[in-house]
Parts: sequence; C-alpha cells; structure tokens
Amino acid sequence: MGKKLICIAHRGASGHEPENTLAAFEKAIALGADWIELDLFAIENRLVVIHDNTLERTTSGKGWVTDHNLTYLRGLDAGKGNRIPFFTEILDLVARRTGVNAELKGPDTAVPLVEVVNKYVRQHGWSYKDFLVSSFDHRQIKTTKMLQPSLPVGLNINGVPLHLDRLVGELSPWSIHVSLDFASKELIADIHALGCRAFVFTVNTEADLERVKSMGADGIFTNFPELLTGRKA
Ligand code: G3P
Ligand code: MG
Repeated sequence: MGKKLICIAHRGASGHEPENTLAAFEKAIALGADWIELDLFAIENRLVVIHDNTLERTTSGKGWVTDHNLTYLRGLDAGKGNRIPFFTEILDLVARRTGVNAELKGPDTAVPLVEVVNKYVRQHGWSYKDFLVSSFDHRQIKTTKMLQPSLPVGLNINGVPLHLDRLVGELSPWSIHVSLDFASKELIADIHALGCRAFVFTVNTEADLERVKSMGADGIFTNFPELLTGRKA
C-alpha cells in the first residue's frame, strides 16, 4: 500500500457547492478533508473569500473585487443564496476540524491575514500549525514570514522555477504547490530533496490521482474530497 495523501478541499468541496462559500467548506468537512483551501482579498481591511479578481463568474455582481466596498460585496449572491464570506466566518465554522490553507490572492493581504491569525492563535485556541498561507505572489509570502515566522507558508508555482533552491532558501516554505500541468516525478523529487512537501492542484479524477501518486506527491487540491477520503458525497 502506498502512502496516504493529504486531501485539501480546493475552494471547499467546490465540485458540490458554490466555491469559497460556507456551504462548500461545510461540505468539505463532511467529506473528511484534511485541509480546506480558500482565496483571500482584503477590502476595507477585512478579508473576504473569493477567487477571481472580478465578480461575474461566481457572483451576482459586476467588475473588479477591489473596486467595491464591503457593503456592496456582502450584498451579492455567491451561489445558491450564499454570501461572499469573511475569512473569520470560515475559521469559526471550521473550528479547527481541518487545517486552513489561506491563499493570498488580492494585493496587500499579508498584513490583515497575519493580524487575524495572531488573534485566533492568542484568543481562540488555534495553533500556527493549523494554518498554511500560500500564494503565487511570493513577495506577499515574504511579508507573511517576516511578520510571523511561526506561520507555515506554501509557495504556489505554475511552472518549473530555475532556482527552486533559492526560493526555498529565502522563504523556508513548508510546502510547494505545483500545478498539474507542470507536475513531474523530477520536480517532486527536487521539492522533497529541499525538505518540503509537494501538493498538486487541481486533481479531480481517478486518472489524475493515479498520475500524481506515481510521481510521489504528498497531497492534492481537489474539488471532490471523496476522491481521497472515499466518503459518500
Ligand atoms: O492553491 C492551490 C490553487 O488554489 C491555486 O490555484 O487559481 O485555484 O487559486 P487557484
Ligand atoms: Mg486558490
């Protein structure tokens, strides 16, 4: 038998419920995910959970997320009557039943993110290890690490970096998150040689799961957590 892969519910169980909503995260917990992954923007110094820069694909709104205020954004339908959630609403829902992988999507999200995490660690019984902060924006990961060195970070990459060792040396990530398009046995071996875990996004079929297993990945981001947990959806 091979090793047990870590199951990270991508935007919640977004294959079943509208992505990045309370309903999707509730479903991910019910399906036994180890971690949930969500995408963050900072608006008026509050963190909201949404993936795209623009509102059209997932909500009833229009235009750029960062062009709007909280009153407008919170009034939108993010699918099946769900609102765009605050990050803190997700943390209160999860209540440490899974780990929380917070992806910094919007600009200037590192400072408010670290503030919220510090508060949940100091006042609500969370541990820094319950969190994993990731981004394609490695500058924001550097800021996060500088502000709170105890907070584990992950580097999202959509390609094969020339100097992975330099990235790891500078940012000390706990994990590297590789897109399925660029995942390979070699890249995953390099990640392991640098002391990091290798997670692949986004793996939604049995066939892709078998591929990434054979490459030696440690976990997957999936819209369908039952693919790994075997729970009934
Ligand atoms: O963090 C893994 C994955 O979520 C990154 O891609 O575009 O789905 O946020 P995206
Ligand atoms: Mg994401």
